[in-house]
Parts: sequence; structure tokens; C-alpha cells
Amino acid sequence: MTPPLQLARRPRRLRRTPALRALVRETRLSPDRFILPLFVCEGANVRRPVGSMPGVFQLSVDETVRDAEGALADGVRAVLLFGLPRDKDDIGSAAYDATGPVPTAVRALRTAVPDMLVVTDVCLCEYTSHGHCGIIADGDIANDATVAQLVRSAVAHAEAGAHMVAPSDMMDGRVAAIRHALDARGFDQVSIMSYAAKYCSGFYGPFRDAADSAPLFGDRRSHQMDPGNAEEALREVEIDIAEGADIVMIKPALPYLDIIWRVKERFACPTAAYQVSGEYSMIKAAAQNGWIEEERAMLESLTAIHRAGADMIITYFAREAARAINRNAGR
Ligand code: PBG
Repeated sequence: MTPPLQLARRPRRLRRTPALRALVRETRLSPDRFILPLFVCEGANVRRPVGSMPGVFQLSVDETVRDAEGALADGVRAVLLFGLPRDKDDIGSAAYDATGPVPTAVRALRTAVPDMLVVTDVCLCEYTSHGHCGIIADGDIANDATVAQLVRSAVAHAEAGAHMVAPSDMMDGRVAAIRHALDARGFDQVSIMSYAAKYCSGFYGPFRDAADSAPLFGDRRSHQMDPGNAEEALREVEIDIAEGADIVMIKPALPYLDIIWRVKERFACPTAAYQVSGEYSMIKAAAQNGWIEEERAMLESLTAIHRAGADMIITYFAREAARAINRNAGR
């Protein structure tokens, strides 16, 4: 028989039983850390599946309310709304139409699901005919003219009753401009979650299907961040906090865990991470092929994002993950 090793430390001792493992577990997911994105379109009784995102739908306002009620029943207490307007133009004016899908959904949710936190995405790409995040001048996105449009959109969302606005455009100076405009209109209690470090990512592909927002020409490299940069993310976050962001977001999530960690360590601020469409669809597709276990991969990726430092996670898995967490409680 092998004589026992004389070991002072045997880490396996604490991995023996479910109860022991639960005692020493450092990171635990909780459904109230999830924010569920919803895509709101025109019409009634519309529930149109997004081909590249199994389980995700474009929803009319009535169906949006229904899903928000379901999410709340699952324990998810925040939604992030994206809009699919009927008409688009080259300056994205539908982004501040008070009768558009997002403001209409905000009003409906605030009445029908009063316990739900309602966050709105503020960007022009869903509203411009060319699919870019801003106003085009001389082949480039005109920063300051675009900011003026984003401000109009944020104000329209606040007027409808949004608790929080989330600018995702990556224009310079938009957080300060939105903060000033909201304050000037008495919306000093409406918070701002800025997409502070948003990378120019290949993982947004399925979203552009869902939101019908793929650019007709060119790409987003002139405003979204280069994937090779980390210090630049810290500068972006620093600027947004100085401009008045209440929550800073890193996006995508899993490929940028180092950024989440550095931002949380450096700024010790409420930090969000967006597990984007491509991250979701990769897990869904692999699972549909029988190549990975969906629930394990879903919960492991969300745990990693939370462990890296994200206080909250925007994820299309929000409801499924919440149900899995509730099901697995005590295991
Ligand atoms: C822009 C926006 C995008 C996403 C959220 N807001 C797309 C883009 O920048 O092209 C992507 C989200 C996802 O992939 O899930 N309004």
C-alpha cells in the first residue's frame, strides 16, 4: 500500500460533499443581478422569432409586458429595451418619437409591471436608414450632432417613465450631455448606465438580426474600441464616471473578463457586463448540436462574469438562468 504523503494542506478536503462545496463557494449568481434585454416592435400580438438567437423574439408592446411579467415571476427584476421603429431616416428621428415602440413599452411596463426596473438603450443604429450609430457627415459619424440626437432620445425615454437610460453609441461627451438635459427637465433621479468600454466586436452579429441594425456600409471602428486595448478602456470608464455615469458597462463580457476585473479594481463603482448576442448564440448552437450541456455552460459563463467583478449582467439567458438557479438551490 502507498504510505500516505505527509501533507499539511489537502485542498480536496473542502470539495468532498455538496454541503462543503456550498460553504466555501465564493461566487453565487442571483437572478436579481440579471437584466433581460427585450426587442420591442410595432403592432399587437407580435412574437417574431429571431433566427440567429433561439428563444429570443421581437415583441409588440403587449407581448413585451407579458414577457416582463414572466421575467419578474422568475425573479428577474430589470429589463433593457431596444426599439424596432416602423420608419427609419438618415438622422434617426424615430429614436425620440414619444409614440414609438420604446416609450410606449416604457409607459405600459410602468403601469402593468410596477416592480420591474425599466432601462432603455439609447443609440441611433436601430433608427437610422443606414444602420450607423449616428448622423453621417462627410462619410464619418459626426460626434456632436449625434450627441444632440441621443439627448433627445434619452429625454423621450425619461418622459415616458424610464428609470434608467443606457447610451450604447460610444460618442464622446454623451454622458455629460444626457445628464445635463435630464437634470434640466427635472429627471435628476433617472440614472445613467453607460456602455463605457464597448468594443468593436464580432460577437454582435446576431443582435443586428434581432434589432435590424446592421450598417449598410462600413463598420463601427471609428467609435467602438479596438479589442487589443485595455488601458484605453480604463480611460473611457474614467471619463464616463466623471461625466456622471452611475453604472459603467463593459461589453462583450466573456472575451473581456480582464477588463471587467481591472475596471472593478480601479474604480470600485457599480459595474455591469453585457453577455452579448454572439456569446448567447454560440452556447445555444453548440447545445443544439449536442456538443455542450447548455445549462452548465450558461451558468459557468455567467458565474465567470460575476466572479470577474460584474455586479450585474445583461443577458439573454436571464430567465433561463434564473429558473436554473432556483431549481438548483441547495445543490
Ligand atoms: C447598439 C448596440 C449593439 C448592441 C447593443 N447595443 C450593437 C452594435 O453596437 O452593433 C449589441 C448587443 C448584442 O450583441 O447582444 N445600439
